[in-house]
Amino acid sequence: MSPFPRALPTPEHPDPRDAPALRWGVLGPGVIAADFTTALHRHTTQRVVAVGSRDAARAAAFAARHGVARAHGSYEELVADPGLDVVYVATPTSEHTAHALLAIAAGRHVLVEKPLARTAVEGVAIRAAAEARGVLALEAMKTLYLPHLQVLRRLLADGAIGEVRSAAAALGMPTPFDARTRLFDPALGGGVALDIGVYPVAFVHAVAGDIERVAARGTRAPSGVDDDIDAELTHAAGVRSRVTATWRRAVDGGAIVQGSRARVVLGAPFHNLAPLTLSDPAGSTIAFDERRWPGREGMAFEAAALARWVEIDDRAAVRTAGDASLAVLRVLDRIRDCVGAASADGTDFGNRLSKSSSPG
Ligand SMILES: NC(=O)c1ccc[n+]([C@@H]2O[C@H](COP(=O)([O-])OP(=O)(O)OC[C@H]3O[C@@H](n4cnc5c(N)ncnc54)[C@H](OP(=O)(O)O)[C@@H]3O)[C@@H](O)[C@H]2O)c1
Repeated sequence: MSPFPRALPTPEHPDPRDAPALRWGVLGPGVIAADFTTALHRHTTQRVVAVGSRDAARAAAFAARHGVARAHGSYEELVADPGLDVVYVATPTSEHTAHALLAIAAGRHVLVEKPLARTAVEGVAIRAAAEARGVLALEAMKTLYLPHLQVLRRLLADGAIGEVRSAAAALGMPTPFDARTRLFDPALGGGVALDIGVYPVAFVHAVAGDIERVAARGTRAPSGVDDDIDAELTHAAGVRSRVTATWRRAVDGGAIVQGSRARVVLGAPFHNLAPLTLSDPAGSTIAFDERRWPGREGMAFEAAALARWVEIDDRAAVRTAGDASLAVLRVLDRIRDCVGAASADGTDFGNRLSKSSSPG
């Protein structure tokens, strides 16, 4: 048995500035598009060179605010802009598939905001279109590219944690019901599972592997979307994990991986750059606490990851990332099924309040 490490491994890609520069087009200049553009321009050599909105004035205002060269008054014009390498899809979740397919058809690589799509079926359609067109399509699951997750992956690969025995992750962002926001609107792909539940599910999938069984319960907002979910997941190796996502309660917001040799705890909120602590039963402990990319500034890492893969046309890496995105969507499908969440995507989630099912 190797001794408790004297130092933590370093992230494989510690600085998003070292990725090859791509020319980006932003599709849908809303809240997250602004934060993404700021993160890129502050922390990478990537450049947003064009923006597309359904409204020319909104595109122009975004371009002026962020120093973006070209503003297009439609998404069709944006994706046809010949000076683009990649399109960042930042529209509401209900629109991800149509907008990703639009950009892919124009021959652009795409980075699609999380969750990749509303359902696994939609996610498969994005992947199939990208592969047929020979472009790369990646979900903007920022957490998986951040330095603390890079350290965690190395700890898992090195055997420092041992065999994973259990994992848990939670996010709670108390949010009063407001039928006018995309969060609570079934037609826009609302609901807490799709909005923030995607992070804890992606996390436990990353550390404990494929998920075979889902048992979930939760509550719904007056609009019918899920607003509080708890799920127990059974992974392929029989390992169990627990995920929580809620707009109703404040929860710790951290994440934990318990291994046969050591445990890792991520501080809250774990989905952004957060402190990581490795400890063992003998009381040894060591911490990683990087703070250079707080909050949404960490989106610089997902963009850098895609830029590296585009540069060397690493389809295998994108396929592996896509496998994870689809596995997570299957689990989110089942969680919403268990909770009986309202859905405007044609899927009949029924009205069951609590049950178990396998993600299929
Ligand atoms: N990674 C993260 O940390 C993070 C954080 C928040 C949200 N997100 C994700 O980012 C996506 C967008 O969220 P957001 O908070 O940025 O939303 P938002 O502020 O409402 O912006 C979405 C933009 O999409 C465009 N759009 C296209 N079709 C639309 C429709 N039918 N209804 C409303 N807007 C439409 C609008 O731009 P135009 O009309 O001008 O074209 C709008 O500005 C969601 O999928 C969400 O899950 C990610």
